[in-house]
Amino acid sequence: MDRIAAVASGRSAGAEVSFGEKATLKVQNLETFDFSGYDIGLFSPGAQVSAVHAPRAAAAGCVVIDNTSHFRMEPDVPLVVPEVNPGALAQFRKRNIIANPNCSTIQMVVALKPLHDRYRVKRVVVATYQSVSGAGKEAMDELFAHTRAVFVADPTTPEQFPKEIAFNCIPQIDRFLEDGSTKEEWKMAVETRKILDPDIAVFATCVRVPVFIGHGEAVNVEFEKPVDVEEARELLSEAPGVIVLDRQEEGGYATPLDAQGEDAVFVSRLRRDPTIPNGLGFWCVADNLRKGAALNAVQIAETLIAEGLLRKAA
Ligand SMILES: NC(=O)c1ccc[n+]([C@@H]2O[C@H](COP(=O)([O-])OP(=O)(O)OC[C@H]3O[C@@H](n4cnc5c(N)ncnc54)[C@H](OP(=O)(O)O)[C@@H]3O)[C@@H](O)[C@H]2O)c1
Repeated sequence: MDRIAAVASGRSAGAEVSFGEKATLKVQNLETFDFSGYDIGLFSPGAQVSAVHAPRAAAAGCVVIDNTSHFRMEPDVPLVVPEVNPGALAQFRKRNIIANPNCSTIQMVVALKPLHDRYRVKRVVVATYQSVSGAGKEAMDELFAHTRAVFVADPTTPEQFPKEIAFNCIPQIDRFLEDGSTKEEWKMAVETRKILDPDIAVFATCVRVPVFIGHGEAVNVEFEKPVDVEEARELLSEAPGVIVLDRQEEGGYATPLDAQGEDAVFVSRLRRDPTIPNGLGFWCVADNLRKGAALNAVQIAETLIAEGLLRKAA
């Protein structure tokens, strides 16, 4: 690596951010930033901003790994979780853009992949417990400020969420669609099909909870083939990116706080679902800022480099 730049809006231009312990970078303004000479751009400025600036960077020869929802479902843009569908990366040259999936989708498909390979997933019913950091920094600030306000009996007005988030749960993430689902629920279904298998049916209920970092998911799966719980546990234990933490005793499972700052997807509460044929239930948690966002984007970049895909295209 010869050069690295930090880019944000004009609001932050000139501010300093650290690049690990190696350097301090002065933030530059995206509006005027020239991407020529940069091999990879990690984008996370929101869908509308990526829609304008990702194609501009791509045209300058910079491969964009975009964390927003804008390009995910475009057929000529690969949507990639390296543990699940690294083969899809080869298609990135059509647009020079690779999409990073939704945080809730990423952790679920990492856990489903080894099970799908063995038993074939038919249908998934999932309820999410999503932390406020999935909605960005201002959303985290609102949870903090409103939690404190409740304790001192100050009034609160929700700004970042449709209802009060402090000491509450909100069954709406993103806007409503015509069929009564929210866009977040739709994303989990269509992204899972694009990444894992177009035949998988997904029914999701996505809920925002007053947790700062780490998404939890209660996942119920119906497979085509009979599933053996002990074998499933073994397959998950050996799967890349997964840690099984499942002692069936007090506290013998992973919570969002346990996953915070970690790279793995944690799987707990594995058990047969006797109410459907070939059914299995589990709980999974991951750090949505790491595996659900930045880490997955970096792993995509690492895979591009390891596979020699950047060099071949140069
Ligand atoms: N957080 C997650 O778990 C997660 C997971 C998957 C996908 N995403 C997606 O990633 C995107 C950003 O989310 P986030 O959580 O990273 O939000 P965030 O913490 O609010 O950060 C947004 C970043 O984008 C920059 N930005 C905003 N408007 C800009 C503009 N007009 N021009 C240039 N830069 C601009 C901001 O710069 P300033 O500081 O200068 O405003 C800030 O650096 C969203 O589309 C979100 O859906 C987030």
